[in-house]
Amino acid sequence: MISRIHPLPTDVVHLIAAGEVIDSLAAVVRELVENALDAGANRLTISLWPEQWRVRVADNGAGMTLADLRQAAQPHSTSKISTRRDLWRISSLGFRGEALHSLSQLAQLEIYSRPQSNPAATGWRVTYDTWGNAVRVETAAIAAGAIVTVSNLFAPWPARRQGLPSLAQQMRAVQLTIQHIALCHPQITWQVEQNDRPWFTLWPGETPQQTLPQILRDVQPNDLRELTLEVRRQAGGGGEDGGAGGDGGAGGDGGAGEAGGDRENGGFEGLLGE
Ligand SMILES: Nc1ncnc2c1ncn2[C@@H]1O[C@H](COP(=O)(O)OP(=O)(O)OP(=O)(O)O)[C@@H](O)[C@H]1O
Ligand SMILES: [Mg+2]
Repeated sequence: MISRIHPLPTDVVHLIAAGEVIDSLAAVVRELVENALDAGANRLTISLWPEQWRVRVADNGAGMTLADLRQAAQPHSTSKISTRRDLWRISSLGFRGEALHSLSQLAQLEIYSRPQSNPAATGWRVTYDTWGNAVRVETAAIAAGAIVTVSNLFAPWPARRQGLPSLAQQMRAVQLTIQHIALCHPQITWQVEQNDRPWFTLWPGETPQQTLPQILRDVQPNDLRELTLEVRRQAGGGGEDGGAGGDGGAGGDGGAGEAGGDRENGGFEGLLGE
């Protein structure tokens, strides 16, 4: 008897996988912003053209060489981890090597970049095809960092657009996404534009104490108090092979695995109302 169950065509598999990584305009913003932060940027300009389903994030981070740019949107390609062990000591926001590839599948992807590491290096503009291959490469005069533009999101998958909330609701989700990330990264300057006009700006500070009043207008910096809480981590939880021992470091680089519930160094910093 012929089975009703059959493997999906590869292009459908890839489209579904990409749609799990990128499911909205806010997800595009989150992925591009996380890449900029991982690149060490402290100044981000985020531009949105919702009617065109277009998002651009410009940053002053480490930037990419031409070799990096050619690899960046290939599937499962990342500079952030290399081996299985690295999965237990992730220190970046991204690590799957999937965001840019997913965007190349669901939209038109273009990246301008010039690396910080080599002041003499030229900048490049690269556009990508659906498979994440660099199809057009040309030199470009830009500042060090990266400018990533995603246009026509979900054009290859119109039903996905129809299933999303109104553009106004999506822009609210974009704003919340940026505000949430900004609270975790108070040292960053955020300039956000909509349809070529300034939308909102978040200025940098030392701690979220300076960021939160910019988001909640009724809150003043003096309403907030900074606390440092110590967090204890139990020994033996997690680890590459699921337990203490082995490579002497269950739970990653924190040194768990020593006897008796060691104390994790980093405190937890939080804000509480007076
Ligand atoms: N703004 C940027 N500045 C510098 N390098 C970047 C930037 N954006 C992407 N890259 C490089 O391109 C690579 C691929 O990015 P991508 O977002 O697809 O994967 P990732 O960030 O490694 O993992 P994830 O899929 O979890 O986000 C990154 O690992 C990084 O080396
Ligand atoms: Mg990423």
